[in-house]
Amino acid sequence: MRFRIDRQSDAPVQQQIADQVRAEVGAGRLRAGDRLPAIRDLARELGVHRDTVAAAYERLAADGVVESTVGRGTFIAAGVTPASPDRRELVLSPLVERVLAWERSLPRIADVSGAVPLHALVPEPGLYPVDAFRRALGKVLAEGGASLLGYGAPQGHPLLRKLLAERLGRSGIEATADELVLCHGASQGIALALRLFATQGDAVAVEDPTYHNVLATLHSLGLRPVTVPMGDGGADLDALERALAQPDVKAFYTIPTFHNPMGITTPLAHRRALLALAARAGKPVVEDAFQLDLGNGGKLAPPLAALDPHGLVVQLFSFSKTLFPGARVGSILARGRSVQALLALKRASDLADAMPLQAALAVLVESGAYDRHLAVLRRILARRRKALLEALDEEMPAGTRWTRPEGGYQVWVELPAALDSAELLPEAARRGVLYAPGQQFFCDGRRSNGLRLTVAMADEAAAARGAALLGRLVRERLAEEPRLADAASIHV
Ligand SMILES: Cc1ncc(COP(=O)(O)O)c(C=O)c1O
Repeated sequence: MRFRIDRQSDAPVQQQIADQVRAEVGAGRLRAGDRLPAIRDLARELGVHRDTVAAAYERLAADGVVESTVGRGTFIAAGVTPASPDRRELVLSPLVERVLAWERSLPRIADVSGAVPLHALVPEPGLYPVDAFRRALGKVLAEGGASLLGYGAPQGHPLLRKLLAERLGRSGIEATADELVLCHGASQGIALALRLFATQGDAVAVEDPTYHNVLATLHSLGLRPVTVPMGDGGADLDALERALAQPDVKAFYTIPTFHNPMGITTPLAHRRALLALAARAGKPVVEDAFQLDLGNGGKLAPPLAALDPHGLVVQLFSFSKTLFPGARVGSILARGRSVQALLALKRASDLADAMPLQAALAVLVESGAYDRHLAVLRRILARRRKALLEALDEEMPAGTRWTRPEGGYQVWVELPAALDSAELLPEAARRGVLYAPGQQFFCDGRRSNGLRLTVAMADEAAAARGAALLGRLVRERLAEEPRLADAASIHV
């Protein structure tokens, strides 16, 4: 087959290559077992870097369209068949098409077994307090029995709400159990909170970079992101002011504590200024406090919700990064009529959450097991972060910068300006280290020299090994193509 690259297109070259292979398969012109051109040959033919072709092939492999065998090449996977002529292609909604296009544009992180997983933001399963959770679940089912197995209250388990309200109090937030709505992870909380204020065609101000799944949520709701660039100390407040002044911008979504992907926590003055801006604009702030419980005992600035006399802040919380994501329990703190509105939206979307899980989490929190687990987790993460940061100091070449988070899992690295972290990823994976390329966190999916590392799945030794592999690769790449060192800067 002949590949064609449209240089005017917004779609990245690697996506164009992958899409053309998919189209050929769909049309039956490429069949299971057919060989794709060698990476080097296709790169030469198209005049692109071989990492770009490799990234396209990796994406296809991750989707099961192709299989690669070291030394033999890349082939259309067994079992991949052309679309049946009788099968009708249903017309999907334009919003869904937009979400699909957005997902396709994300750089894929191949699952390379044995590679150091510095890309993952899922706590290591070995750290989950499984025994304590099993005992808690047994206890609530023994005591609550059938009463826990009906449709629960849309607002969530009352004891867990009460305990969470008390915990928020310790962070300086005045909240009652009635002001909390439990939800299916912070992810559902994000969608519900945004739907409180914005409908299809509206816009939401977001930090750039930001949590990539928020971008998917915005697309799926027909909302447009308006970007507010992130600096070392948080969102650019002048840009935020301009964004909030736009009439169609209905809210600001922010991650002030252990930002994803940057890992930074904004200082008190920034938080106060941000809230003053929002108050002047009369716009709500959705504070994603998904890692609030990973703070280091009072050294962090109070959450936005604790500094908010006007009731502008809707705050999201999650147990996913402190216990385990599988319980799918998060909460939304809201004030006044927003609580009733959230309950209506919650009923409309899924009636209610699973009560046995929330009841078991309430036992973990009430018994002190959650706090004991947190203390251990924070110590482990502190050691891992230290190992990673020391290894970066040691291994990364001049011209690389990174954040120094005070807690949480993630560290943001900016490679020397002309390197593209998504293009570098397939080679990094081959050499045994994975990271999350910056491109996926930017609203416009632009090339980026930024990348996110985490210590969720990597202990101290693995974190140091991963940083060493990354450092070596970056140094080699710069040496191989010295012009990269002073080529035009890629925006981070
Ligand atoms: C900033 C942010 N918010 C929310 C979530 C999702 O949390 P949950 O598992 O509670 O849905 C994540 C997951 O990585 C995240 O990074």
